[in-house]
Amino acid sequence: RTVAVLLAGGTGTRLYPASRSDRPKQFQSFGADSRSLLRRAADRAAFADDVCVLTREAYADAVREHVPEADVLVEPVAKDTGPALAYASHRVREEHADAVLCALPADHVVGDGFGEVARRGCRVAAEREKLVTFGVEPDRPATEYGYIEPGAAHDGYADVASFREKPDAETAARLREAGCLWNAGLFAWRPEVFLAEARDGPLAPLIDALDAGDPERGFDRVDPVSVDYAVMERTDRAAVVPADFDWDDLGSWDALERVLDGDGDGNTLASDALALDASGNVIASDDKHVSVVGVDDLVVAAYDDRVLVVPKADGQRVRDVVAELRGDD
Ligand code: GDD
Ligand code: MG
Repeated sequence: RTVAVLLAGGTGTRLYPASRSDRPKQFQSFGADSRSLLRRAADRAAFADDVCVLTREAYADAVREHVPEADVLVEPVAKDTGPALAYASHRVREEHADAVLCALPADHVVGDGFGEVARRGCRVAAEREKLVTFGVEPDRPATEYGYIEPGAAHDGYADVASFREKPDAETAARLREAGCLWNAGLFAWRPEVFLAEARDGPLAPLIDALDAGDPERGFDRVDPVSVDYAVMERTDRAAVVPADFDWDDLGSWDALERVLDGDGDGNTLASDALALDASGNVIASDDKHVSVVGVDDLVVAAYDDRVLVVPKADGQRVRDVVAELRGDD
């Protein structure tokens, strides 16, 4: 039995101001597809027997609105994907002892062929008792992804020789040269395999408390940490299946130009907009009409009463804006 767990508890900071702390990007749509990113993820999860959305309390109602057919699992405190996935794994194991859990991020744009690959990953997770990752062929030395170094090849998958989360620019370039793959952020595992591996790292106090039936105390006893650092960098039971489908993480505004069509001058207009004598810009808004004239390579995003203008190459710095506005984003 396969249980798809949609990860929908992140705050999507770098897509401010479309993404705000009270309604982050997974509840927004971008471009011509009017479905929210979370709705799209739920549609992709159709390959699984059960679908469950894992989120924080503040987003639970929005989740129920976007994915009425799914179970909603609310973590006691949002402490990033490590604690969240330990909690979900524990829960899935209680409900179906022999299930495979497949974790799907809600911030991705994914092409055809996904279900087939996900099913293959789940098979490897079940039969080989591995923590399965999905590897994407890199096309640039990105620093916002995890890198997977493939080891011994098997039928339809390879062992993972090493896993490196969000390397600096120099390391990213070297890993890419060396033939490493990007971690697509999707995982498949049997809950007991994951929990056994996680027990060796910073999630141990949480897992003990979950075993004792006290999730609140468990979440109190761990610091925020993503599953990539907490488990994937440490385990020697990881495997990688090739992610043979179009894939992008809508992490920051510049990603829009990779997933939407351009206007012929290299501008990406994600909403009704006018670009005159301008190229390479990314423009997005809600119901506002935006015009740009004589400027290149900017992001202009206008939502509600907020406007953001930033050079496209500095898209990661939107984080700083939100940090500065903290509590008022
Ligand atoms: N339930 C829950 N709770 N979900 C969360 C939480 C949390 O505390 N924090 C983040 N998420 C969700 C996000 O909404 C998103 O769908 C997913 O988990 C991944 O979180 P991100 O914060 O977007 O991670 P990332 O993009 O920086 O890095 C991960 O994905 C990359 C590929 O997209 C890593 O797995 C990288 O290794 C990977 O390359
Ligand atoms: Mg992401």
